[in-house]
Amino acid sequence: MRLIIREEPETVAKYIADYIIERILTFEPTPQKPFVLGLPTGSSPILIYKSLVARHKAGDISFRNVVTFNMDEYVGIPRDHPESYHSFMYKHFFSHVDIPPASIHILNGNAPDLEAECIAYEEKIRLAGGIELFLGGIGPDGHIAFNEPGSSLASRTRVKTLAYDTILANSRFFGHDLALVPRMALTVGVGTVLEAREVVIAITGAHKAAALQRCIEGGVNHMWTLSCLQLHPHPLIVVDDDATLEL
Ligand code: GLP
Repeated sequence: MRLIIREEPETVAKYIADYIIERILTFEPTPQKPFVLGLPTGSSPILIYKSLVARHKAGDISFRNVVTFNMDEYVGIPRDHPESYHSFMYKHFFSHVDIPPASIHILNGNAPDLEAECIAYEEKIRLAGGIELFLGGIGPDGHIAFNEPGSSLASRTRVKTLAYDTILANSRFFGHDLALVPRMALTVGVGTVLEAREVVIAITGAHKAAALQRCIEGGVNHMWTLSCLQLHPHPLIVVDDDATLEL
């Protein structure tokens, strides 16, 4: 496992954006063989998207031959709700780059049959040739995507009830009103993430320090789902100084 330490969130984001761009450029995607990128939401990736958009605007990278799959989406809030992950992705990334709309995949948290939606999503990933690079973050409890503590390490895309800690953490996006935070989400599984050919995780802030320590210095444990990376052949974790406080 590679652990890269940078001073602050800005330098973590720059490292990751440069890394992703390098990977896309070396991969030389074509319309027949696109670069398949898994993407996260949350506050940590915002700086990464900002950096990717800046490099795109500078003419350094095109996303024309990139296909994306987002990690997760809330269940039961409208797609155009300002806090849906759909809205988040267009606001911070998709609206600012040249990715074709048909190449963007985000789980539909309002699908009439949520289970069928999850099965179809896995199939779409498979048909796209699998995920080349899954970018992610973690919650303070070490969850990856919405794979809350206790998730099976073999789990696939599915409906997940959010842990109280996650509802509490995410209430900051809903005016700190716990009642407004969705209780359920659709999420790729730990197994789905592990199948990506490469996984890159950004972790910043002292509030994530305990999770980083448990996930990389503890054993593989379904209560700290990021620890699954210990089973992956090609993981990269990029953290800031504050996140290393417990190592
Ligand atoms: C949510 C998302 C995760 C993300 C986490 C951390 O729970 N489902 O994918 O990693 O938030 O977000 P933040 O970067 O805001 O701490």
